[in-house]
Amino acid sequence: MKIMVTGGAGFIGSNYVHHHLEKFPEDEIVVLDKLTYAGRLANLEGVPEQRFSFVEADICDRETSRRTLDGCDAIVNFAAESHVDRSIEAPGEFITTDVFGTYVLLEAARDAGIRHLQISTDEVYGSIDEGSFTEASPIDPSSPYSASKAGGDMIVSAFNHTYGADSLTVRASNNYGPQQHPEKLIPLVILNAIHGDPIPVYGDGKQVRNWLFVRDFCTAIDAVLVNGQAGEVYNVGGPDEETNLDVVKAILALTGRDESLITYVEDRLGHDLRYSLSAAKTQALGWKAAVNFAQGIESTVAWYRDNPQWWQALRSGEYREYYERQYGVDLGA
Ligand code: NAD
Ligand code: TYD
Repeated sequence: MKIMVTGGAGFIGSNYVHHHLEKFPEDEIVVLDKLTYAGRLANLEGVPEQRFSFVEADICDRETSRRTLDGCDAIVNFAAESHVDRSIEAPGEFITTDVFGTYVLLEAARDAGIRHLQISTDEVYGSIDEGSFTEASPIDPSSPYSASKAGGDMIVSAFNHTYGADSLTVRASNNYGPQQHPEKLIPLVILNAIHGDPIPVYGDGKQVRNWLFVRDFCTAIDAVLVNGQAGEVYNVGGPDEETNLDVVKAILALTGRDESLITYVEDRLGHDLRYSLSAAKTQALGWKAAVNFAQGIESTVAWYRDNPQWWQALRSGEYREYYERQYGVDLGA
């Protein structure tokens, strides 16, 4: 199989490329990625060159997307603007990439007669106080990010319903692991802890996320890509739920830092209190998470500790400017 992986230079996409090429030695992957602030070629270092190629392009660019798709058997679409806080600051790019870009890829896949697997998020269901969302739960997104992802998901399902396109969706809970951009909670806390910088906790820190180790999500994606039914949605929830405060405390303990680094800051606008996702339907395809939160967070902290060359360049430049805008503090000052 040859797969076009869009957004493959980002966090989950790059983990998926490494995982898939290791696990399926016959398969080939072409990554199409715009290399926004979140995409980095460094994430793809070490992939087997004879089975891998890279095209720098925007998924909204119809011509290049179609040309790149030539000879492929499927698209796995990770490409998105993916950060809630940035969507609150500036929603426009989210709507362009996550909605219009998804449509461009769907049309290309339909014309080529191949499968389009959309990578989506539990955030499209909104917040849940008790119990877990299933695939039958209504869509009720809260942020410009989750609303854009919900728009993309609706077009995926409309293409299947209207044209009989081979399109389907996986919705994952919060991922963490190596190569995640430090704008997101877990890598932000790890790097601030390593540097002895204050750890910004939004509101009271009692919000709950359903953590999924990124390599477990990769195995779920393969299960759905191969065995999922067109027109269906598959939820991939992680094995553990943790409050943000407990996540921060676990990282402080693993990095040998004191809890006095915790700094409560103004809450996120429209902050969702809790996400929780039932993975039963994906498990029925034979998938199971292999890594619990205690194991995953330990190995993730170790990865950031052992790979300073990966994050040193990021701590300057765009991320530093973003950090100052978002938190009103100069990073590492
Ligand atoms: P990321 O921000 O790390 O990576 C996104 C990638 O998409 C980057 O490489 C970026 O350059 C690329 N990209 C952005 N706009 C593009 C465009 N117009 N054309 C081509 N490439 C473009 O994101 P991530 O955390 O790896 O998330 C990947 C996907 O998984 C997203 O669709 C996201 O909504 C979904 N998701 C993420 C999580 C999570 O916890 N991170 C959870 C569930 C679902
Ligand atoms: P994030 O990693 O941005 O993922 P998402 O918003 O998609 O769940 O945030 C995870 C949780 O951590 C969320 O409840 C917001 C909170 N958070 C903080 O408390 N402080 C921070 O600096 C960041 C980035 C997030």
